[in-house]
Amino acid sequence: MKKISARARAIEMSGIRKFFQAANPDSINMALGQPDFVTPDHIRDAAIQAVRDGNTGYTFNAGLPELREALSEKFKNENHLSYSPDQIIVTAGAGEALFIAIQSLVDDGDRVLLTDPGFVSYEACIRLAGGRPDFVSLKDDLHINEEMLYEKMDGARLLILNSPNNPTGAVESRETIRSITEAAMDAGVTILSDEVYEHIIYDAVHASAATFGEDVITVNAASKTYAMTGWRLGFIAGPPEYMEQCLKVHQYCQTCATSISQYAGVAAYTGDQSCVKMMRDEYRARRDILVFGLHDLGIEFPVPQGAFYAFVPLGREKMQEVMDAGVIVVPGDAFGPSGAEYARFSYATSRENINAAIERMRPVFEV
Ligand SMILES: Cc1ncc(COP(=O)(O)O)c(C=O)c1O
Repeated sequence: MKKISARARAIEMSGIRKFFQAANPDSINMALGQPDFVTPDHIRDAAIQAVRDGNTGYTFNAGLPELREALSEKFKNENHLSYSPDQIIVTAGAGEALFIAIQSLVDDGDRVLLTDPGFVSYEACIRLAGGRPDFVSLKDDLHINEEMLYEKMDGARLLILNSPNNPTGAVESRETIRSITEAAMDAGVTILSDEVYEHIIYDAVHASAATFGEDVITVNAASKTYAMTGWRLGFIAGPPEYMEQCLKVHQYCQTCATSISQYAGVAAYTGDQSCVKMMRDEYRARRDILVFGLHDLGIEFPVPQGAFYAFVPLGREKMQEVMDAGVIVVPGDAFGPSGAEYARFSYATSRENINAAIERMRPVFEV
């Protein structure tokens, strides 16, 4: 019998991964949570050049100075935030950024507020740090239940926000982000704001929590914005007191983000941004096809405003029939118990696949 730590036993394998393994080759896979685009050419070229130039060693722990400079500019221009380069740490994806932030801020028994459903890593990171996840439900329109959030705020250590949201595609308005941030600041609750989908947003506007309060840490990544999930390139920014601690955790678990990815990141953040718009426009067209198709099948649900997901209340029986018809979705309970009646459709797949999926589902819903 091998001895396993209580921390590792307290977490489960991600419910999403199980589904990739289950998909058969004829299925249309609408479960994937990553862009189906290849990273734009100029970014790949910069990585190739970095290899040719021999930039293959460790970088500074916090990341390449020119990348942190570029990220500081990005924050200023896109988010109206003034983070100096030394308030920014380059990480191995947003995943590592979330991990080091939670390790640095959460003590044993600390209560951390997060939504149910929500992105799968949050709960696991909280438990690994010894914290106690405290879930806040979503309303029927898939937006955060502010009343419930405010009731739970007193005495909580941390609140994790994620807009645009995975798995719902919901985008919280500027007013909501402002109210939540102000309430958190009044209650002494730090906010960890996961903004990885900030550029995949359609009929709404992105708001960064850090524009409304001081005690906020912002997490972001090149992963979704530039179709760079495999490069493992993210970053974290926040008050210097927090970044000092995050840097220690980062040093000992990661040393630095991959040097080659960081050079690619410089090209991504300083180069031509038209690729971001091109991908966003394509996601929008796909969202419209999916939403129109599902509405046409008689399935009602709020139109997602961001990310590349639709969170659809199919019910468990119909969800199984959809899967049996050869359309792979992620059951909503992978994101928390409140998602049990929902299916997450990812439309990070071709228009042909989305149209074909609707046709496969038609017999399931036509009476
Ligand atoms: C909301 C959210 N945060 C963080 C991540 C992790 O991103 P990365 O691939 O940069 O680690 C994901 C990936 O799916 C996500 O959906």
